Amino acid sequence: MNNKQMQVKYRCPSNIALVKYWGKKEGGIQLPANASISWSLSDLFAETTMIATTEVGPKLTFTFKGESKPSFEPKILVFLERISEYSEFVKTHNFIVDTVNNFPHGTGIASSAAGFGALAMCIADLEGRFENGSSEFYERASFFARLGSGSACRSVYGKPAVWGEHPEIANSSDMYAVPFEKEIHHSLSNWKDCVLIVDDGEKKVSSTQGHALLENHPYAAARFENAQKNIGKIANYLQNGDVSNFIALVESEALQLHSMMMSSIPYFTLIRPNTLAILEEIWAFREETKLPLAFTLDAGANVHLLYDKQYETEISNFIDNKLLVYCKNGLYLCSNIGGTPQKIT
Ligand code: DP6
Repeated sequence: MNNKQMQVKYRCPSNIALVKYWGKKEGGIQLPANASISWSLSDLFAETTMIATTEVGPKLTFTFKGESKPSFEPKILVFLERISEYSEFVKTHNFIVDTVNNFPHGTGIASSAAGFGALAMCIADLEGRFENGSSEFYERASFFARLGSGSACRSVYGKPAVWGEHPEIANSSDMYAVPFEKEIHHSLSNWKDCVLIVDDGEKKVSSTQGHALLENHPYAAARFENAQKNIGKIANYLQNGDVSNFIALVESEALQLHSMMMSSIPYFTLIRPNTLAILEEIWAFREETKLPLAFTLDAGANVHLLYDKQYETEISNFIDNKLLVYCKNGLYLCSNIGGTPQKIT
């Protein structure tokens, strides 16, 4: 066989879930216990260069910003191994990968979603099975991304993305995310996300460990049922522009996620005192100004502020005057909502 090398580079955004994925189904790899929906964050992304080669060598040569990062390799190797089952191309090639995030690592922003999303796009492209940009192509990339990290499968679409079977979402699947195709009401179509960095340390309990604790969780069944209901509700709010119910649902989802952590056996907390202080400030600010500002939380202490872009000045003043004191080193990162992965070279 002639040795061949192919190279590609993709940028893929991170995403933030509005209805959360927390808990996996048995009987497969990375199958969600309930459907989730997210917004992608166009300004917080990973850029990944991938070379696929048939030359003899290690399955994976990985660098982060050009420097070797052995701690990242096992997860990517598992990812490649899982994909090999479905892709002859991945089985028969070795990969040289360099990746970089445009946000600091360890800030609690879903770097694995952006990172695995970008890797999956590179593979779907190099594999060449479906035409780049076709719906089959995105579906394949989303399917691959899921095998790296569940939430990553929602990152390949610029539109809001739904992952997990749901009776009210056409073509929804546990295997990959699908774009939310319904038209979004103008009052919810132009929002931003500012992530307030409360804690930038390593998490005490990883998401993967957290998901596993849902297996014998006393409230798991009720949580999954409620999340399914919330998907139906939020799909309506996104279309009819019911902003106040949207905000109430998104905040309730964030708090349910953390309540599930606090009621796991063993229990744990990821929120910090400053997380709660920020939530109190947000509620007081909303009461006073009536502006459409919501928070959500990921599996960590940081707070995502979601708000309509037309109130950017007011929210920015609010952050500077009231919230900055709770941020580690005064750090927060803002992004527009939306943003499809892009092929760079
Ligand atoms: C709290 O996708 O990081 O962010 O599938 O084990 O890699 P694995 O977990 P991961 O879980 C993310 C959970 C969450 C909520 C969400 O993004 O839906």
